[in-house]
Amino acid sequence: MGTIVGISGNFSRPSKTRRMVEVIVEAAATELAWESRVFDLVDAGPALGATLGRKHAPPEIDRIWTAIETCDALVVGSPVYKASYTGLLKHLFDILDMNALRGRPVLVAATAKASSHELMIDHQFRPLFAFFRAVVVSGSVYALEQDFGPENEPTEGLRQRVATAVGTLVAAAR
Ligand SMILES: Cc1cc2nc3c(=O)[nH]c(=O)nc-3n(C[C@H](O)[C@H](O)[C@H](O)COP(=O)(O)O)c2cc1C
Repeated sequence: MGTIVGISGNFSRPSKTRRMVEVIVEAAATELAWESRVFDLVDAGPALGATLGRKHAPPEIDRIWTAIETCDALVVGSPVYKASYTGLLKHLFDILDMNALRGRPVLVAATAKASSHELMIDHQFRPLFAFFRAVVVSGSVYALEQDFGPENEPTEGLRQRVATAVGTLVAAAR
């Protein structure tokens, strides 16, 4: 049985991004009959920004890096901050070994207020995982405020877009 891991770049809760990543990961894990785990930057804790290497890293951060390195497929979501993924999310991946994701399927997703920043998916998110020589799947999800209902539950429309994107991840992961 494989494992799919979700990483969400939010650093406060409740979070639309975390909820969306959970929904994406649940859908893919169900189709693949795999195990799943989701982490966000709240799980990493306040020491993340001050942690500059794996040595002496706090256990709550190290377990996230270990989960990323050992997963069979990865979903990475971020709230859009200043037209990009969050800086702390980049920091989490900056510390990873450059071969840590080689050949692994990765799906990227973002939540935002503005539709005009959607190109961050193709201009910034995909290139980050292309650097790692991961297999960045063709599907992606970009969601706005109106795609969420009460308690950050994805609307039916967003769930349909998630299903389409998840199909590309599942095909790459099989
Ligand atoms: C510091 C900050 C910067 C933001 N910058 C942008 C931005 O450049 N473009 C945009 O569309 N939304 C921007 N937003 C809005 C968030 O992307 C949006 O509210 C997101 O869905 C929040 O996700 P979360 O609920 O997971 O925290 C920004 C929000 C914050 C707090």
